[in-house]
Amino acid sequence: MARIVNLGVLVSGSGSNLQSIIDNIERGTLPAQIRIIVSNNPGAFALERAKKHGIPTAVIEHAGFASREDYDRKLVDTLMDNGVELVVLAGFMRVLSPFFLRSFPARVMNIHPALLPSFPGTHGQKQAFDYGVKFSGCTVHFADEGVDTGPIIIQAVVPVCDTDTEETLSQRILKEEHRIYPQAIRLYAEGKLRVEGRKVRVLDHPQPEGSPRHNPPVTNF
Ligand code: GRF
Repeated sequence: MARIVNLGVLVSGSGSNLQSIIDNIERGTLPAQIRIIVSNNPGAFALERAKKHGIPTAVIEHAGFASREDYDRKLVDTLMDNGVELVVLAGFMRVLSPFFLRSFPARVMNIHPALLPSFPGTHGQKQAFDYGVKFSGCTVHFADEGVDTGPIIIQAVVPVCDTDTEETLSQRILKEEHRIYPQAIRLYAEGKLRVEGRKVRVLDHPQPEGSPRHNPPVTNF
């Protein structure tokens, strides 16, 4: 039986990943509790979602802070005051300082809408679409001091179809984001993640089914 993990979720926008985490918790499929949702954007729809589910929120805007570190100090204090163990970045549009990351060592997760290390940074879906890859996807990783560079926990592969637009591809990727983020947090809660350098080992977990996939499919003559 997994213990309950206290989460702090950081958001800036729509919060559909937040919603999938809330839904999993309410369904009993994710042994976690969201202690606080912090937004840097007072207009984030994620805050409406939080209100609907009675989850405490804090809005911390960057205006008024002299430096990134001052801002992050306030963030860290807010998270710690609420007993947060694991920080979940769910569309939080700010780069975190080394000070923040040192405050939660190997306890900050991020989701990125591409198969890292390809297409880091903003608009990962568009970058992949414009590049013409045949597969893209999404990645949950532990955050480190780089941009989308930390040790990878789980990835989902999404094929790109000829009929796709950036929008349809983004939608299909987002659907997978909503599956892999709760799964990554569940594995953390179950104590199954071991970070070994760049690699995250997942203990006592089935290995993926092994057949490679091709896009377009390889036909046998
Ligand atoms: C997602 O695409 C996520 O991968 C990226 O920001 C977006 C957040 O979407 N980091 P939402 O706010 O969870 O709907």
